[in-house]
Amino acid sequence: MLKVTKAVFPVAGLGTRFLPATKASPKEMLPIVDKPLIQYAVEEAIAAGITEMIFVTGRSKRAIEDHFDKSYEIEAELEARGKEKLLSLVRSIKPSHVDCFYVRQAEALGLGHAVLCAEKLVGDSPFAVVLADDLLDGKPPVLRQMIDVFDHYHTSVLGVEEIAPDESKSYGVIDGKQWEENIFKLSGIVEKPAPADAPSRYGVVGRYVLKPRIFEHLRALRPGSGGELQLTDAIQSLLHDEQVLAYRYEGARFDCGSKLGYLKATVEFALRHPEVSADFSDYLASRMAELQV
Ligand code: G1P
Repeated sequence: MLKVTKAVFPVAGLGTRFLPATKASPKEMLPIVDKPLIQYAVEEAIAAGITEMIFVTGRSKRAIEDHFDKSYEIEAELEARGKEKLLSLVRSIKPSHVDCFYVRQAEALGLGHAVLCAEKLVGDSPFAVVLADDLLDGKPPVLRQMIDVFDHYHTSVLGVEEIAPDESKSYGVIDGKQWEENIFKLSGIVEKPAPADAPSRYGVVGRYVLKPRIFEHLRALRPGSGGELQLTDAIQSLLHDEQVLAYRYEGARFDCGSKLGYLKATVEFALRHPEVSADFSDYLASRMAELQV
C-alpha cells in the first residue's frame, strides 16, 4: 500500500476577513506570535511523514514561495553578526528532505477546484489536503493521527470535530455511523447546511487524506454551495465508488480564518513561547484583574 508523502495546501484564498492585513500578502502568512500559519501547517505535515508540499497559489505566490526558499541575504547577515540560533531557525524552515512545488489556481472557483489544480503534481498517490487557517494542536500531530487511520483502513479519511448546531453553516457536515471509537463510516456529506438540515453534529476541519480517485469526481463537479466547486461535493460523489471514513481527532483547533480564533491562537501560543510566556502571562493576569474591577 502506498504511503502518504504528498500534501496539498490551497493558499489562493483572498482572506477578506483579515483586510487590510491581507491586501498585499496571503492570510496564510499571518503570524501566530512569530511563525506564519502556513509554517505551522507545513510542520504538521512534516511530522506526519509528508515530504512533498504542493502549494496551490493565487496572487499570493511570492510571499509563500520566498518563505520556503533559501534567503541568502538574511543568512549572510545573520552569519556576519554571529546570530547562530536565528540562522539555524531560518535554515530549518524547509528541511533538506522536503520539496516544495507550486501550482497556480488561475481563478478562485472554490476548494474543490483548488485541489483539482494539484492533480498533475499528486498523480496516482494518496495525498493529504491541509487548510492552514485551521491551526490544529495535537499530540501526535493531527495529520499524523489521520495518516495512521489511513494506513490501517486504506480509505480516504476526513478530520472531524463536534460542532454546535448553529455552526453547521460554516462546515462540511458528515452523515454516517460510528464504526469504532472516534471513527465514523460516511454515508453522506453536505457543505454548509442550515442547522435544520445538518445530518449530524460532526463538522469537517481542514484536514483530509484522500485517495486519488477523488480527482475523477473533482473533474465532474458542478457549482455547489456559494456557487463554488466544493471538495465536499466531490467527496459525496466519491462515496458512490468507495468507502470514506471520518476521524474525530484528538487535540485542539483554532479557527484562524476568524479574528476571534486567530486571537485565541495568539494567546495560547504566546503563553507557551519560551521567550515571552512568563512576561505575557503576567501581563494577561494584570489585564484580567483590571477588567474585573
Ligand atoms: C472549508 C470546507 C468545509 C470545511 C472547512 C473547514 O470551508 O469547504 O467543508 O468544513 O473548510 O475549515 P471554508 O472554511 O473554506 O469556507
